[in-house]
Amino acid sequence: MSFIPGHTLPAENRQVLLTRRPAGTPAAADFTIQTAPLASPQPGQFLVRNLYLSADPAQRGWASNPALTPLGTPMRALAVAVVVESREYGISAGDVVYGFFGWQDYALATRADLFSHIAAPRAPISLYAGVLGMPGVTAWLALLDLAPPRPGDAVLVSTAAGAVGSIVGQIARHRGAYTVGLTGNNDKVTQCTTRFGYNAVLNYKTADLPQALAALRPDGFQIFFDNTGGPILDAAIRAMARHGRIVQCGTAATASWNPPPLGLRPEREIMSRALTWSGFMIFDHHARFSETIEQLTDMLLQHGLEHDEDIETGIDAAPGALSALFTGANTGKKLVFIG
Ligand SMILES: NC(=O)c1ccc[n+]([C@@H]2O[C@H](COP(=O)([O-])OP(=O)(O)OC[C@H]3O[C@@H](n4cnc5c(N)ncnc54)[C@H](OP(=O)(O)O)[C@@H]3O)[C@@H](O)[C@H]2O)c1
Repeated sequence: MSFIPGHTLPAENRQVLLTRRPAGTPAAADFTIQTAPLASPQPGQFLVRNLYLSADPAQRGWASNPALTPLGTPMRALAVAVVVESREYGISAGDVVYGFFGWQDYALATRADLFSHIAAPRAPISLYAGVLGMPGVTAWLALLDLAPPRPGDAVLVSTAAGAVGSIVGQIARHRGAYTVGLTGNNDKVTQCTTRFGYNAVLNYKTADLPQALAALRPDGFQIFFDNTGGPILDAAIRAMARHGRIVQCGTAATASWNPPPLGLRPEREIMSRALTWSGFMIFDHHARFSETIEQLTDMLLQHGLEHDEDIETGIDAAPGALSALFTGANTGKKLVFIG
């Protein structure tokens, strides 16, 4: 059985260019689709045909940064691709790769652009952008390095239904923790309990969070895996147990850091509850991506790690994909299939 979907090899390269610097979350109108000629790889390069374009919350930051995505260039993005032609030792035509190939049909890439080189796929290749890609590897390393759960720990997770949060919840549960998820609509509340095994789930848009968190765990949470910051963090930090650990993995609740948002001050809670608050950046951990992908694949194949994908079809869907992440319209790892 092939894990690589059928695809075409168009004669030209359609590209989704960033043509207007977004104010906050990128909107479809910030992008323009154009067609460019194909280029051939030089020594050290390989040409890839992108099949699954990834939409990741981090792209909001990449789109706001001229050094990362200059105007008029393809949107900086991860993608799962098949190598078409290679002039790099160890990378061959037909290989599956996942890396920074941008929102376009084809990319000329080097090894420095790779997140992973999947010589022998063990699962459908779209998963190498989700549960076996940046989100899954982030969930694994951030949780297990910074706040490994002990049996009986209460673990609170924000964006609990999402690509990162759904895996964090399952790893924590697998380690014997009591898991509580926070998500933004009732369908996702159901998804979190029935698919991702959370012990309890709150809709943060309708619940009185301070009261609901205290009712669920009067003695507080040992771990908070936070992907949002903002008002959710303000409530959660006041629901932590003494010596609790907070992993700051994302800041989805803040659309722009210019000017910096104002909010409650956390320092008294950090001090009086003797908390540890650790930040995580996935690209600090490049050397461990391969081994972590193998561990996640073993867990997926042996224990049935649940995961959801939200896949649109056609490159025209890419420009609107990011705003869906920030309205919560996505129902799992957001991808665009362009094969
Ligand atoms: N530090 C790192 O190295 C690293 C690496 C990967 C990902 N991350 C971070 O992890 C987080 C999740 O990423 P993902 O790929 O798994 O995305 P995701 O959870 O699949 O999608 C984003 C979700 O964020 C939630 N959200 C959006 N705006 C929000 C707001 N204002 N308040 C609360 N929740 C909001 C929505 O869920 P609801 O419908 O539940 O509101 C939305 O579905 C992001 O913050 C991302 O930047 C960090």
